Amino acid sequence: MTNDFLSAIYYLEKNHDLSDEDFIRFIEHCESDDALFSAADRVRRNIYGDEVYLRGLIEFTSYCKNNCYYCGIRRDNKNAQRYRLSCDDILLCCKEGYSLGYRTFVLQGGEDVYYTDDMICSIVYKIKSLYPDCAVTLSIGERSKESYRLFWNAGASRYLLRHETADEEHYRKLHPKEMSLANRQKCLFNLKEIGYQVGSGFMVGSPYQTTDNLLSDIRFLQELDPDMIGIGTYITHKDTPFSNMTNGSLILALRLIALLRLMFPHALIPATTALGTIHPQGREKALKAGANVVMPNLSPVCVREKYSLYDNKRCTDEESAQCRECIEKKIESAGYRAVTAIGDVKR
Ligand code: 5AD
Ligand code: FES
Repeated sequence: MTNDFLSAIYYLEKNHDLSDEDFIRFIEHCESDDALFSAADRVRRNIYGDEVYLRGLIEFTSYCKNNCYYCGIRRDNKNAQRYRLSCDDILLCCKEGYSLGYRTFVLQGGEDVYYTDDMICSIVYKIKSLYPDCAVTLSIGERSKESYRLFWNAGASRYLLRHETADEEHYRKLHPKEMSLANRQKCLFNLKEIGYQVGSGFMVGSPYQTTDNLLSDIRFLQELDPDMIGIGTYITHKDTPFSNMTNGSLILALRLIALLRLMFPHALIPATTALGTIHPQGREKALKAGANVVMPNLSPVCVREKYSLYDNKRCTDEESAQCRECIEKKIESAGYRAVTAIGDVKR
């Protein structure tokens, strides 16, 4: 590796920014990977030590009103198996999760209008009343600022909404015309204004993605300054318009995780299930490249397979306790420690 790369890593670590040209060089070249990953690991250890935060993920509805071309639970996928969890089902997941040590519950679902604002508020409120020492994270897509405020007042304090791609032209290739990048970005800024810890992110290797698109993603994240950044590889789903497309690359995703860790030293960055799906050690590798969060599945096993965003998704048949144990082993084998702390962002 040239000194050029080393000094750029040093510069990025100090200034949290690089020129477009330098970012592009890192994205497109592998020579610097080892140095990049170890710099990212050093930075994460300086701030978060060897701690990996666990979040209990509850995928509570597989209905979605949207039709993103890449997503297995898109509205027009007639083969998708649909389910909805009741408030009591969700509370049971939390009960089990709490006893397993989880102190954050992530309620994730398709964009499902069946769950009115009142219902979401009442679910959030009940969880917070039963488990005041836990954080509730919502990941239920685009809603109005008023709705976001109601959820916040009910006790939700974190929100995950990936921007998916920050390039207008690319956005149009991934989404039907009724969806808009501007609205998605607006939602993210609304969430921040209300006070949420906000997570955004994108898929690496989504169809038609270029290096310039990735650069736009980086620049958009700088503007947003998120607390959490979710990076996964794109993985093809057989029942989508993109069934013939190829999967994203793990190494490129790792590279982006490392770059983002150096840019956002305090960010909470999950080692995502998509990375565990694309490679058996994908999540361990992500931890070593700067990730510091894992989100094991807490959904009832009987619905797991139905929340199929992409093919061959991992962790669909283990009970929550097994999933917890398996994840803990993975974290330890990568050289880190799973902790049950609430795990707020260390700003
Ligand atoms: N491959 C990988 N990730 C996907 N997502 C949706 N479809 C896919 C896919 N085919 C991601 C999106 C969404 C998150 C919940 O899952 O980025 O925001
Ligand atoms: Fe549900 Fe994209 S298909 S949000």
